[in-house]
Amino acid sequence: MRTDTEHTIYLKDYSPSAYTIESVVLDVRIAPETTRVRAQLTIVPAANTPRGTPLILDGEDLRLEDIAVDGAPLVQLAYAADENGLTLVEPPNRRFVLETLVAIEPEANTRLMGLYRSNGVWCTQCEPEGFRRITYYLDRPDVLATFKVTMSADEELAPVLLANGNLIDKGSLGDGKHYAVWEDPFPKPSYLFALVAGDLASISDSFTTASGRKVDLAIYCEHGKQDQCHWAMDSLKRSMAWDEKRFDREYDLDVFNIVAVSDFNFGAMENKGLNIFNDKLVFARPETATDADYENIERVIAHEYFHNWTGNRITCRDWFQLCLKEGLTVYRDQEFTSDERSRAVKRISDVMKLRSAQFPEDGGPLAHPARPDNYREINNFYTPTVYDKGAEIVRMLATLLGEDGFKKGMDLYFERHDGEATTIEAFLACFAEANDTDLDQFKTWYEQAGTPRIEINEQFDADAHTYTLTLRQNTPPTPGQPDKAALVVPVRFGLLGPNGAEIGYERVTGAEARDDVIVLDKPEVEVVFHGVANRPVPSLLRGFSAPAILETGLSEQDRLFLARHDSDAFNRWQAIQDIGERLVVASVNGESVSDEATEALTQAMAETLAHETLDDAFKALALNLPDEAQIARAIGKSVDPSAIRASRQSLLKQVFGPLADRLEAKYEALTSEAPYTPDAAQSGRRDLRNRLLSLLATVSTKGPELAHRQYQAAKNMTDRFAALAAATLAWTEEAPSLLAEFRTTYAGDPLVFDKWLAVNARAPDDSVVSRLQAILSDPSFPKNNPNRMRALVGSFAMANPAQFTRPDGAGFRFVTGAVLDMDKRNPQVAARLLTGFRTWPMLEDSRQQAALAALHGLRDSGALSRNTNDILTRILD
Ligand code: ARG
Ligand code: ZN
Repeated sequence: MRTDTEHTIYLKDYSPSAYTIESVVLDVRIAPETTRVRAQLTIVPAANTPRGTPLILDGEDLRLEDIAVDGAPLVQLAYAADENGLTLVEPPNRRFVLETLVAIEPEANTRLMGLYRSNGVWCTQCEPEGFRRITYYLDRPDVLATFKVTMSADEELAPVLLANGNLIDKGSLGDGKHYAVWEDPFPKPSYLFALVAGDLASISDSFTTASGRKVDLAIYCEHGKQDQCHWAMDSLKRSMAWDEKRFDREYDLDVFNIVAVSDFNFGAMENKGLNIFNDKLVFARPETATDADYENIERVIAHEYFHNWTGNRITCRDWFQLCLKEGLTVYRDQEFTSDERSRAVKRISDVMKLRSAQFPEDGGPLAHPARPDNYREINNFYTPTVYDKGAEIVRMLATLLGEDGFKKGMDLYFERHDGEATTIEAFLACFAEANDTDLDQFKTWYEQAGTPRIEINEQFDADAHTYTLTLRQNTPPTPGQPDKAALVVPVRFGLLGPNGAEIGYERVTGAEARDDVIVLDKPEVEVVFHGVANRPVPSLLRGFSAPAILETGLSEQDRLFLARHDSDAFNRWQAIQDIGERLVVASVNGESVSDEATEALTQAMAETLAHETLDDAFKALALNLPDEAQIARAIGKSVDPSAIRASRQSLLKQVFGPLADRLEAKYEALTSEAPYTPDAAQSGRRDLRNRLLSLLATVSTKGPELAHRQYQAAKNMTDRFAALAAATLAWTEEAPSLLAEFRTTYAGDPLVFDKWLAVNARAPDDSVVSRLQAILSDPSFPKNNPNRMRALVGSFAMANPAQFTRPDGAGFRFVTGAVLDMDKRNPQVAARLLTGFRTWPMLEDSRQQAALAALHGLRDSGALSRNTNDILTRILD
C-alpha cells in the first residue's frame, strides 16, 4: 500500500479548472483479473489558460499502456505518469482529444472505490474520487461532460451490461463475448459515472411522468432475489410521483435502473439513471426484513431518486459544498416519508437520530461546519453533520420563509442553476431574492460548527398582564473555532392556558415574532406578550424548529402539563423524555429521586398508554426513558456509562414496574393475525407491541417468557427479531439459546446474519467482548464485507456504551484491533468504525486513559491510511 502524505485542501483555494472536458468516449473491456479502459477525452483549455499550462489528470492504481493526442502517440518526454496521476507537460492550446489505455484490476480492489467485483458482479463507486481509479481524468465535480460508454464482456459471466443514460446499441462480438453502448446526454461530473456487468436477474415496471414520458424501470439483483425487490420498486414509483407533486420535478431519461450489490461502502449512490445500492437497502420480504428495514428502503430509494434534481442536474462546484446536495436531499426524503407516513413520528425519529449521531459529532473532537472549509480526506466528511444538520438548515429556511416563500426559492434554484455545479451561496441567493430578504446571517449555520444552547427565562406580570420570554443563545467552542457568532434561530412556540388550550394575546413587542415563530438572531432577545391574564405554560422549539439544545428551567409540573396537553406532538414527546432524563441524571449524580417524582412519570406513562387518539407509533416512542447515550450527553463530563446503565435500568423498573399488568394487557390486546403489510398503521402497532415487550422483559418477571413465546410464534422478522432483541438486551436466561437458534435458522441469509451480529454487539453482559472477538476471529467470517463489519464492530462501538468503554480497555482494544485490520483493505470503512471514539473526552478519567491507550496503540502500529489517520489525528488533537 502506498503511504499517504498529509495534505490539507482549503475552500479558499478553490479555482476553476484550467482545462475542461466536453465529452468522454469510453471503451471498457471487462475481463477477469485485468480490465482495460480506453478513454477518449475531448479537452478544451479555459479561455484564460496560458499556453503551455500543464494538464494534470488524476489517476490512482492505473497502469498506463498507451497514450495519444489527436491520434498521434505521445513521446516519453511529453507526459509523466506517477501514483497520483498523469501530467501532459505542454498540451495543445486548443480543443484536442487525449486518448489513453489503462489496465486495472477490479478483483484486487478491496477499497470498493472505482471498479470492483462484488459477489461476481462488476460494479463501480465513484463518489467522491473513485473515477480516477478507472481512468485518468479531471476528477472534480465542476468538470461536466457527456459520456458514451461501450462495454464488452464474456456473455456468460456478464449477460447484463449497464451504464448511465440510454442504451443505444448492443450485439455479439463472437467468441462468447458481447457488447452494449450506453449514452448519457446530460453532462455530468465523473462522480456520477457508473457501470455494472454481471449475471443478474431483474424485475421491471414503468412510470409515466406528468408530461407523458414513459420511463422503463428495472431493479437488478442476484438470481433468486427478485421477489425481494418489489417493495423497492413500489417505493421508487411513489417517489417519482411525489417529486412531481411536491416539487414539480419530473424524471428526464427513458430508463431508470437500480442495481443491488452485496459489498458497498455505504447506503446507496445516485449515479445518473443507474443507482447502485447496498443490497440491504433493496431486499425485503416479511420473513427476513423488519418494519424498520422497509421504511429505510423506502427512504433511501426516495433519497437517491430525488438526487436526480438535487445533486445530478444541479451538482456541487467542489466537495466543500457537499451539503448543498446531501442536506437538501435528506430534507426532501424526510418530507417524503412525512407525507407517506406519520409526520410527527417521523420528526421525533429524525430528531432522535440527529441527537444520537450528529450532536456527539458536533460536541466533540470531530466537530466541523455543515460546509467545512478544509479537509485532508473528503471521504471522512460524509457525516451526520453534512447530511442531517444540513437537512435541519434547509428545514429552518422553510420555517423562516414559510411554505410559499420556500417554494419560490426552490423554483428559482431549479430554474437558475439547472445544468450547473454550484455553491451554498448561490443556493441561498435564490431564497433571498425570491423572498426579497437577506440571508447573510443565516449563512452562519453552514459555516459554524457546534450545537447552540438556548436558554429561556420567563416572567409573568399579573398587574400589567404581560408575559415576557427572554431567549439567549450560546454556541460552545469547537476545534479551530473558538469564538462563535449569533445564529438565526427560529423558535416555534405556543402558549398554553390553564385548560391546556392555546391562549390568545393582544400584541407582541420586543423581538421579531412571525406568527408562531420567534426569531432569535442576537445573543439575547426579549419578547413581551400583552393582554395575558394568567401565566401560560410555554411550549418552545415546537417540532424541534432548530438543531439546538433547549434549556427551559420549566418545573416538573409544567412538563407534566405539556406531556398531557401540548398540541405539538413533538413537544409532548419531548416533555415526557425531559422528565425521564432529569430523573435518571439525578439518580446517576447520587441525588435522591422522590417517590412522587417517579410516580408522576408513571402516571404520565399510564395516560399515554391509555390515550385514545395518539397513534401507536407515537406511543412506542414515548413509553421509554431517554437512552444511555442521551443521558451521557445530558451529564456532559466525567461520564461513567456503567453507572448510567445501572441507574437507567433501575428507573425503568421503578417507573414501568407498577404498570406491568397494564403493559401486558395492552401487549396481548395488540396481538394481530392480519397478514403482514409494511404500512405505517400496521407497523406502528407492531412497534408499540414490541416496545411493551421490551419493557416487560426488563421490568416484569413474565417478560422473559413472553419474549420466548413471541420468538417462537412470530410470523414475520419484525416480531421475531424484536423478541430476540428484547431477550438479548435484557440478557435473560434464554438469550443465549435464542441467539443460537436464530443463527442456525437464518444461516444462509447474510442480511439476517447482520441483524444477529448487531444484536450480539449490543448485549450488556460482561462476556460480550470475548464473544465478539471469537466471531470476528473465525476464519470464515467475511471480514471484507462492509455490512458485516459495521454490524459487528460499528454496532458495538456506537450502541453498547457501557461495554465499549469498559475501564479495563477490552472494548476499546477490540475496536482499534478491528480498525487496524480493516484499514489494510478498506480504509473508508475502517475510518468510519474509528469514529466510535469521538466521545472519549467526556468519559471519566480511568475510561479516558483506557481509550487513549487503545488509540495510541493504533497510532504506533505502523502505516495507517490517510482516511484512518485523519480521524485518529483529529480525535487525539
Ligand atoms: N451520494 C451518496 C448518497 O448520499 C453517498 C455517497 C457516499 N460516499 C462516501 N464516500 N461516503 O446518496
Ligand atoms: Zn445523498
